[in-house]
Amino acid sequence: MLSRYFPPSLLKAIAAKAGTPAYVYSRSAFLRQLRSYKTAFRALAPLFCYALKANSNGALCALAACEGWGADVVSGGELYRALRAGFKPEKIIFSGVGKTREELEYALRSGLLFINAESFEEVLALEEAAAKLKISAPLSVRINPDVDPHTHRYITTGKLGGKFGVSFEEAQKIYMYAAGSRHLRPVGAQFHIGSQVRSAAPYARAAGRLGAFIVRLAARGVLLKYADVGGGWGVKEGAEMPDPAALARAVGGVFGGTGLKVILEPGRSVAAPCGALLTKVIYRKRGGDKNFIVVDAAMNDLIRPAVYGAKHPVAAVGGKRGPRKKYDIVGPVCESGDFLAKGVWLAEPSNGALLLVLSAGAYGFSMSSQYNSRPRAAEALITGPSSWRLVRRRETWKDLVALELP
Ligand SMILES: Cc1ncc(COP(=O)(O)O)c(C=O)c1O
Repeated sequence: MLSRYFPPSLLKAIAAKAGTPAYVYSRSAFLRQLRSYKTAFRALAPLFCYALKANSNGALCALAACEGWGADVVSGGELYRALRAGFKPEKIIFSGVGKTREELEYALRSGLLFINAESFEEVLALEEAAAKLKISAPLSVRINPDVDPHTHRYITTGKLGGKFGVSFEEAQKIYMYAAGSRHLRPVGAQFHIGSQVRSAAPYARAAGRLGAFIVRLAARGVLLKYADVGGGWGVKEGAEMPDPAALARAVGGVFGGTGLKVILEPGRSVAAPCGALLTKVIYRKRGGDKNFIVVDAAMNDLIRPAVYGAKHPVAAVGGKRGPRKKYDIVGPVCESGDFLAKGVWLAEPSNGALLLVLSAGAYGFSMSSQYNSRPRAAEALITGPSSWRLVRRRETWKDLVALELP
């Protein structure tokens, strides 16, 4: 599976030409994931909006747009990227708890499908922006369904007491207000319970609550068209491809046959398996009773292990025979939290060997930084069994200071 999507000969060619560390994406793995959603949800025929925050590289976004996907964006910058990559405005939705007035106006001028508002004050700001443009804003409300997705607390977003969304009571007030406004057009309702959710049960619970709410709203004369169940479908540790079939059953069980158009906003489950971080061994050393491999990628390139305790499988490029030892794989950044993986069993790699950190296509590059004044990694796309191209050049030391003023 691994060598099918990431052939060692291509990885070596990428390292030789583009250098390391480099994010490497597999076009065929990305397409496979996009299509797996279409297959799993064929009975419901929803609108899929790729969550750009997982990986906003223009080459991947363009592939999703070509496959007919829409986009889920959470900032003016992501909206700019989505439009530039070719997503149709009428398939783009805009989420996020703190959209500025400039961002709301940009969204309205772009003709998006709808805006997921997260507070009454945001709805008032949206109304004002729409009035200024003399239009009526397509509105959806992000509702906090108070469901625990049993994931990491930093990526739990659908429980009351968090900053996301509004309660059903508050949402009802917002919809009743919007129904009486000339500049607001209520069209949908949304939830997003969290990320890296590995069970369909919380979706079924949240969808059931949303469905019942939409029915109550209809009884009060507010007829919605869209039921948006967010993203968050998880990726199992390992390099395998997540299958959204169970999610499809849970969502279909609630919204199938209702006439509502379902919207999904997956990011991680599409992008994670299609990407890996290619890195080179700089040094090997022992510290106490531990074996360390120091590589040229670091927490500034992939911060998930440090922030979420995420576990990424690591493989030697081309494989390596010999007795295996347990290693911590660490980077050059001056923080003890700078590790890519701990307790990995590998045959001792030689100095200069290439390692591949797997399942790193989502929240990898998009969360990377220049911490320790380390230029961001290059990004390469494998386009066929023996072809690849650079889709973002490596930053340089000059790039580090390019925006500074004397
Ligand atoms: C509103 C919203 N939609 C979709 C997503 C995508 O989630 P995931 O990448 O886990 O599928 C997120 C992630 O934080 C989100 O906040």
